[in-house]
Amino acid sequence: MTARYTQDKDIAILTVYNPPVNALSAAMRRDLFNGIARAIADPDIIGIVIIGDPVFIAGADIREFGKPATFPGLRDLYPPMEGSPKPIFAAISGAALGGGYELCLACHYRVALASGRVGLPEVNIGLLPGGGGTTRLPRLIGAQPALDLMLSGKHISATQALALGMVDKVFSEDLLGAATMFARERANAGGTHPVLRDRIDKIAGTDPDLFSNLRKQNAAKWRGLTAPGKILDCVEATSTMPFDQAYAFEAEAFDDCLASPARKALIHVFFAERQAAKIEGVGPDIKPRKISKAGVIGAGTMGGGIAMALANAGLTVIQTDVSDEALERGRNIIEANYATSVSRGSMTKQAMEVALGLISSDTDYAALADCDIVIEAAFEDMDVKQTIFRKLDDVLKPGAVFATNTSTLDIDKIATAITRPQDFVGTHFFSPANVMRLQENVRGAATSLETLATVTALAKKIGKMPVLAGNCDGFIGNRILAAYGREADFLLEEGATPWQIDDALMAFGFPMGIYRMRDMSGLDVGWRIRKYREQFRDKSTRYSPIADKICELGRFGQKTKAGYYRYDGRTPIPDPEIETLINQTAADLGIERVAVADDEIVTRILTAMVNEGAKIVDEGFAQRASDVDIVFIYGYGFPRYQGGPMFWAEQRGLKTVCADVERYFAAYGKLWEPAPLLVRLASSGATSWS
Ligand code: 3HC
Repeated sequence: MTARYTQDKDIAILTVYNPPVNALSAAMRRDLFNGIARAIADPDIIGIVIIGDPVFIAGADIREFGKPATFPGLRDLYPPMEGSPKPIFAAISGAALGGGYELCLACHYRVALASGRVGLPEVNIGLLPGGGGTTRLPRLIGAQPALDLMLSGKHISATQALALGMVDKVFSEDLLGAATMFARERANAGGTHPVLRDRIDKIAGTDPDLFSNLRKQNAAKWRGLTAPGKILDCVEATSTMPFDQAYAFEAEAFDDCLASPARKALIHVFFAERQAAKIEGVGPDIKPRKISKAGVIGAGTMGGGIAMALANAGLTVIQTDVSDEALERGRNIIEANYATSVSRGSMTKQAMEVALGLISSDTDYAALADCDIVIEAAFEDMDVKQTIFRKLDDVLKPGAVFATNTSTLDIDKIATAITRPQDFVGTHFFSPANVMRLQENVRGAATSLETLATVTALAKKIGKMPVLAGNCDGFIGNRILAAYGREADFLLEEGATPWQIDDALMAFGFPMGIYRMRDMSGLDVGWRIRKYREQFRDKSTRYSPIADKICELGRFGQKTKAGYYRYDGRTPIPDPEIETLINQTAADLGIERVAVADDEIVTRILTAMVNEGAKIVDEGFAQRASDVDIVFIYGYGFPRYQGGPMFWAEQRGLKTVCADVERYFAAYGKLWEPAPLLVRLASSGATSWS
């Protein structure tokens, strides 16, 4: 039973129960429909309370989208509710989201526990509040605040909801008792009970320019998305049309969203995000260790960002570096970063002071002795890192986690420096670490499940997205990025320009193309790494020298005002000098440059990413294909509404992608060796990676 019917004297109580989040499934709709009918028919009942504990209802059951509709749908619940002569109360504890809050809007009254949260977050999964949310919420609180809530998808607290008028009363305890008493009081007071569909006072006089202005302001931001524009259309409809007409309009708009590619991608991402935090073998029996005090080695950009991320979540942080000067320099940067956040309004002064108060520094490793975790973010050099971990091994308490932020080194080799490799793990943050949300946790050969569970829990605590990677060169993200960059560079030789490639990738949805990204992060770092790796490079494979040649000219990107582009401030300007360099390089290599279509650029780059991603999954360095998607969305700006490279491949068809890989393999040789997993799935006719 997903909605249990009980009675408190003359009040009927419907308690929904569908763990873990009380998703409004077909079964729950049926049980609610029957329960409401029973209460209305019972002459001894004077009022009805719908309650869920500890969550109210987190929305429609997302897993049911795309399945055939069954009676009663969400909208079938409303006519008996709104027509009920007995008042119906929603009693909200935990989350009342999406269809859950829309159900509340069809009730006569809404009450909440102070810890409750409400919202219409459908936009986050490519949908609009199609259970009457776009028609009823503006009638309750006005078009502008309703749009603010629906377009942002944010959840707000019960107190904020009270201030907006989204709930009528907030209680600090005994929600059921308070709601029952309130229901009895209102029922006994007699008269009619408020029905939102009848209200127009809040929408009368809505500024018609509101909608056109929002459309204009957000045109770029909403590119590729269906839902935000449709939400706007629906609220405009509700502000200008009779209820029934706007309600029908909403239903059609919802179907349009449901059919949109972005919806499919965003729902894929919703489930992929939740999967990513799951580690095979880590069940409820494996408990993460408690982390409240952390050490950070290195006060550079990365170390500073990590320290900020930890302190922002309330952890005590001790930073160490080789000298007081280095620590002071690092502290100044942290203070300046926080000051910028305060001046931008994204942080309060008080929060800044709390965070700064949590970060201290010391040059002596002894100060780290009682840290629960130490994250090393020193120079990318094996000897440097091993020396650091050797010293840490001497001082850290038993059970402390040893973490390295390396992005390029073999973590098993680093781990040989300590006597407790089971406590050793990679925590690869992305720069700036206080902003970027990806945390690639890298498992070493000896890393224990408990250590993995601990860094996963830490990631959640500090607001990061944890993804588990195996210890291969580049882990998941940078290994695939290498394939991405490699093909882009070859395309330059074959006929494209940096700006054509960047524009094609941006048209696909990346916020920035690869060359602007490289120019922004600085070309010299990659150059140094390439020079070091030259000794290990397989000389029989194709190699593009363009990036090296650009560096040889002293063009290191934005910081030298020239890289792949010339810079006027931060504005990139296509540079004929680079085109000449590319032409000359191609000629030297004997490559005849011909025009490359934008579509081909995107297909080739994404196909290279997918082929590498499939190898990573098959080799066990990623737990699942959707983890690759999460890495690219959270760490590399892959457009969320495209679902990630592996999802893109499923949409294109694994067979087509495999055929493309084979075509490139035939044309370009062994760097395109087809991933065995892709070949297996394509030849078996599989349509998905799992
Ligand atoms: N449908 C189906 N499953 C859902 C779900 C939903 N609406 N919401 C959450 N779940 C599942 C998750 O996939 C997860 O499953 P798993 O354990 O197998 O991985 C489990 O419930 C727990 O979810 P979380 O890990 O996210 O738990 P949290 O406690 O961190 O967060 C939450 C809880 C805030 C409710 C969060 O899950 C959430 O934001 N859910 C989605 C809310 C939403 O988008 N609602 C709108 C749905 S669309 C709709 O209502 C259409 C209507 O307008 C017609």
